[in-house]
Amino acid sequence: MAGEVLQYLAPQNGGVYLDGTLGGAGHARLILEASSPDGVLIGLDRDSAALVAAQANLAPFGDRVVLRQGNFSEMGVHLDQLGIDNVDGILLDLGVSSHQLDSPERGFSFREDGPLDMRMNPTEGVSAATVLAEAEADELKRIFREYGEERWAGKIARAIVNDREKNPFVTTLQLAELISRVAPAGKGPQRIHPATRVFQALRIHVNGELDSLRTALDTAWLRLKSGGRLVVISFHSLEDRMVKQAFRALATGCVCPPRLAVCVCGEQPSVRVLTRKAVRATESETENNPRARSAVLRAMEKLPAKGE
Ligand SMILES: C[S@@+](CC[C@H](N)C(=O)[O-])C[C@H]1O[C@@H](n2cnc3c(N)ncnc32)[C@H](O)[C@@H]1O
Repeated sequence: MAGEVLQYLAPQNGGVYLDGTLGGAGHARLILEASSPDGVLIGLDRDSAALVAAQANLAPFGDRVVLRQGNFSEMGVHLDQLGIDNVDGILLDLGVSSHQLDSPERGFSFREDGPLDMRMNPTEGVSAATVLAEAEADELKRIFREYGEERWAGKIARAIVNDREKNPFVTTLQLAELISRVAPAGKGPQRIHPATRVFQALRIHVNGELDSLRTALDTAWLRLKSGGRLVVISFHSLEDRMVKQAFRALATGCVCPPRLAVCVCGEQPSVRVLTRKAVRATESETENNPRARSAVLRAMEKLPAKGE
């Protein structure tokens, strides 16, 4: 959604932009081009491999680029360390990159065999294999149902707990085969691989993705200049709901109970929502990139504070 990101972020020459999900730096490059000749881009990613790729991709922009490894939930700490109070725009393009999905050794994909890791930063937290070895059946069921909306969550969780005594789950194909065995395949031309939802759910759990997003939404608007913009692209309904609700709360301001006829709290809206409805990828984009089918973009602009 490159065109839409530029439309809503509206980068300007001389502006300072934070890309919290740098990946291979496709969007970052466009932001730097659109904010030429003096715009600055701060790029964050949890994954050190993404930073290596991004560094090569952004080399022509020289000192207009600052790259750091880290979680976007800690964007405030990174900005403080760089001596930057606030920025003109923030982009969060959530989830995993194609590069991560296409690297079997990272364990994100059920299409090729690899270790069941799934950590965006493999030096932090515990791997998917550890979760599958240690979590109770009820916890696994919750993860698959909540983060994957998996219909067969209970059945798959019980089968994992049954099998893991004899056969600990250590590779992606081992898990994919078990799921194919116990969960009926979907029907019709749009059917997805039966392991799709469980792999997504495990990845979201292993990386604490919803917690990171919640914290980032609390911080991002505070670190925007007045008139600065936040653009978020989600791939999951739970993420999109969180973004929509956070934007709505900030744009409403008033926190008085609905039974009061007049506002007594005096809270003012802090932001203006720029996307009345969720923005989706165009048909031509989804033809070239099927992953874009589930992408949803929302954007907001920070309003001047009282008296500004
Ligand atoms: C969809 S890709 C971004 C692609 C990028 N916009 C581009 O144009 O190449 C998501 C990237 O964000 C990173 N990521 C996901 N959650 C993160 C988080 N909480 N903090 C920092 N990086 C994160 C992933 O490691 C991945 O590289």
